[in-house]
Amino acid sequence: MRITGMSDLSIADVARVDLDRVDLFDSELYVSGDPHLVWAAMRARAPLHRQVLPDGRAFWSVTRYQDACRVLGNHREFTSEQGSLLSQLGHGDAAAGKMLVATDPPRHTELRMPLRRLFSGHAISMSEKRIRQAVRSALRPARETEVWDVAQQVAMLPMAVAGALMGIPEQDWSDLVRWTAMATAPEDSEYLVASSGATLAIAHHELFEYFSREVRVRVGTEGDDVIRHLMRMPVGDSTLTRDEVVVNCYSVLLGANATTPHTIAGTVLALMENGDQFRVAYKDPAIVPTLVEEGLRWTSAASSFLRHAVDTIELGGGQVEPGDAVAVWVGSANRDESVFADPYCFDANRADNRHIAFGFGPHYCLGASVARLTLRIFFEEFIQLIKEIEPAGPPRHLKSNFVAGLTHLPVRTLIRTDATKPRDWPGR
Ligand code: HEM
Repeated sequence: MRITGMSDLSIADVARVDLDRVDLFDSELYVSGDPHLVWAAMRARAPLHRQVLPDGRAFWSVTRYQDACRVLGNHREFTSEQGSLLSQLGHGDAAAGKMLVATDPPRHTELRMPLRRLFSGHAISMSEKRIRQAVRSALRPARETEVWDVAQQVAMLPMAVAGALMGIPEQDWSDLVRWTAMATAPEDSEYLVASSGATLAIAHHELFEYFSREVRVRVGTEGDDVIRHLMRMPVGDSTLTRDEVVVNCYSVLLGANATTPHTIAGTVLALMENGDQFRVAYKDPAIVPTLVEEGLRWTSAASSFLRHAVDTIELGGGQVEPGDAVAVWVGSANRDESVFADPYCFDANRADNRHIAFGFGPHYCLGASVARLTLRIFFEEFIQLIKEIEPAGPPRHLKSNFVAGLTHLPVRTLIRTDATKPRDWPGR
């Protein structure tokens, strides 16, 4: 999905968008079009917008910040149990009531509470050293060559945390990264096998088989990884079935792999497009935490989520009926001009940044602490190492209406002359 801004677009461009012809479902829009222009027009002229697909399926879209928070935040009005992704429109969700992201409270609370300890800031801080090593390994090409691909280098990074949290051996990480990429963007030619349906089916089969095996070998064994924790944690007055454990493993892995690398690549691209901001960070590494938050807002890697209305509800100046699908465009909410000052300006020092890149309400990202830590460490190391950066070719956007990402980001970099080789540099 295209993630650059529309800083040079005028009110006239926004007014020219023909909202009757807008196709937010078509993932090609996010490769060769500019959804930010479309979203700006929708926020201004159609904050509740309805689209009917050629096969008769239909969905509403909300693009304003307040409406996005209302839909994501209120499970009594908008359920997650009929599919939480646009790709599930009209199909429902077989994992409803089993998988965290596809379950409403109170069952959702029962599932989520016992997991919180494993994902808390304290538990995650134990991973700091491991993440730093993985980041240094990802940045290694910058020390060895001038031209390298940021998106490719960081694709494996979340496994350093998710893999360790879940107790998954390192030799399996690259397969898992490939299968989650196939599951996230089955239409993208980079991952396509025969057809998008076949790609998705293969990815799901491999991932579910993998986690079923991992669950089988752990039966009766001790340990504190996420998989064992899911297997034995009390949920209500029982424990999870094996199927429930497997779908939640899938959810955690997808949550980590589908988002963190794209946030890094999107932020690096923004720093190249806004060289002054790169120099601001270069001169003052203390701004990394605000740079990270701005990168999260700017890229909004998890770009859309789906909910279904459970009642007749007034929303965005219109009305939705029970059973209607409502897509929430997080990438749009995070550029809402009524909430963010100068929203198309990438500001590494942005003070008031209430972005909803990690969602809002009961399903607020479980991995937010670990994602923030990974991003902070990446940009600390990046700024400490890189002196100059420029594009070495066009970026390639992910073909997806769900994840705003980059599959390739070729860059040319020069490193600081004072960038010493860290003592724990991999391969030393
Ligand atoms: C920059 C990185 C990330 C972004 C932008 C992101 C974004 C999101 C968003 C927007 C949601 C809400 C989904 C909804 O409302 O339906 C979510 C949920 C979730 N995320 Fe993340 N995520 C990131 C990283 C991670 C990581 C690293 C993990 C795991 C290690 C993770 C695991 C999850 C899980 C399990 C949920 C479901 C929570 C629930 O339903 O209660 N995410 N994420």
